[in-house]
Amino acid sequence: MTDRDDECEMGYWLGKPFWGQGIMPEAVKELLRHAFEDLRMQKVWIGYYEGNTKSKRVQGKCGFKYQWKSENVDVPLMNEKRTGHVSLMTKEDWQLI
Ligand SMILES: CC(C)(COP(=O)(O)OP(=O)(O)OC[C@H]1O[C@@H](n2cnc3c(N)ncnc32)[C@H](O)[C@@H]1OP(=O)(O)O)[C@@H](O)C(=O)NCCC(=O)NCCS
Repeated sequence: MTDRDDECEMGYWLGKPFWGQGIMPEAVKELLRHAFEDLRMQKVWIGYYEGNTKSKRVQGKCGFKYQWKSENVDVPLMNEKRTGHVSLMTKEDWQLI
């Protein structure tokens, strides 16, 4: 999502038995702290594919701001195209949370 050295992208996966306990929002919040405080990032990008309501919810709960949707995103591992939704957390927004 970015080529800049002061920005990064976050992604996550959790085993099914652990879903629904708020584990990933807690992990994402700590990774945001790590990105902004330790790595001195200015922006953290994140995304989910259309239909992944659980991931959308995690991103909403963590305060990411919706940016745009991209049609026909290549997913090489699945050999298919999907619609992607991109959100952003800036350092300034994070400091207000
Ligand atoms: C997306 C994912 C990380 C969510 O992690 P999590 O720790 O379960 O997150 P939460 O506990 O905050 O749950 C998020 C939402 O998912 C939904 N949800 C949780 N467990 C669910 C379950 N077993 N069945 C249906 N919906 C569920 C709820 O709506 C919940 O929102 P709520 O707290 O407002 O009710 C996890 O589902 C996952 O690893 N999925 C597979 C990989 C993936 O999709 N990664 C993201 C790629 S963008």
